[in-house]
Amino acid sequence: MLEQKILNIKSEFLGEIENVSDLDVLNDIRVKYLGRKSELGEALKGLKDLSVDEKKKIGPLANEVKNEIASKIDALEKNIKSQASLLKDRIDVTIPGKKKEVGHLHLITQIQSELIDIFSSMGFDVTDGVEIETEEYNFDKLNIPENHPARDAWDTFWIKGKDGERKALRPHTSPMQIHYMESHKPPFRVIAPGKCFRNEATDASHDHTFYQFEALVVGDDVNVGHFKNIAQQFFSMFFKKDVDVRIRPSFFPFTEPSFEFDISCTVCDGKGCSTCGRTGWIEIGGAGMVNQAVFEAAGYEKGRYQGFAWGFGIERIAMMRHKIDDIRLFHGGDLRFIKQF
Ligand code: PHE
Repeated sequence: MLEQKILNIKSEFLGEIENVSDLDVLNDIRVKYLGRKSELGEALKGLKDLSVDEKKKIGPLANEVKNEIASKIDALEKNIKSQASLLKDRIDVTIPGKKKEVGHLHLITQIQSELIDIFSSMGFDVTDGVEIETEEYNFDKLNIPENHPARDAWDTFWIKGKDGERKALRPHTSPMQIHYMESHKPPFRVIAPGKCFRNEATDASHDHTFYQFEALVVGDDVNVGHFKNIAQQFFSMFFKKDVDVRIRPSFFPFTEPSFEFDISCTVCDGKGCSTCGRTGWIEIGGAGMVNQAVFEAAGYEKGRYQGFAWGFGIERIAMMRHKIDDIRLFHGGDLRFIKQF
């Protein structure tokens, strides 16, 4: 009788515990089967009324069932707890990810690389120079002596160098001409894109910080025709259409003769529109045949070589290509502008 009862309790327990996955339910089961007032407890109390023989048989059985129930409950409890902690650390791979902001190259940097690619394909070397330049390279060696009024054309930010020497945040990339010639022998062709600074009031077409693009070609018989031809090829490649180049007389101390150069308006193809002020031409930069005084300052024999140089603002051609109407947008740090390119 008692034996059957104990076996019934066990099978009832096994049935009840089968699908339990909740700790509270498991706890109720523990109280129900192992608590002081449990059925099994009551049944064990009846042991004392049994004969010695029956006690010997049923006693161990009762203990065995009790231990089995206890160990099953303990094992299940452990299982449920570890499942819970796994669930807590679970990663839901179906939740949409957080978008990571990835930066990209600034429009000017992109265009600079494009210019370098085009000129490399035409056999040009690429150099840079320094942004903090000495007075000597910025001006003296470029045939702009101290106190010469031409210096005023470059509104220069002067700073004091480490050794107390007066230095300039370079207002143009032309000092690179001297640096390059001091370490290279003609014939050569080289470009130097770089950051420049000018101490002047800013407006839609002037900024204190901007990028210039210098080119220098030197050889035995380099002439203005070479300049026009190379400039024409380059601007046609850059704007992906036939572009005309024209030159107008001008003055730079480091070139002789000097000129400003224009390209045919890429918006109206030279017909005349609001971008080019109805002239059909857009002013691009300065150029000229390298002044022999500059060759001399760089250590070349006077009269031995001929060459041309030019310099123009990279922002200016970026503005033409993308129809940007204010140069201050480039380095103003407004991401709404930067992200468009
Ligand atoms: N360095 C001149 C400027 O900044 C441009 C220039 C470069 C002119 C080379 C002639 C030759 O205005």
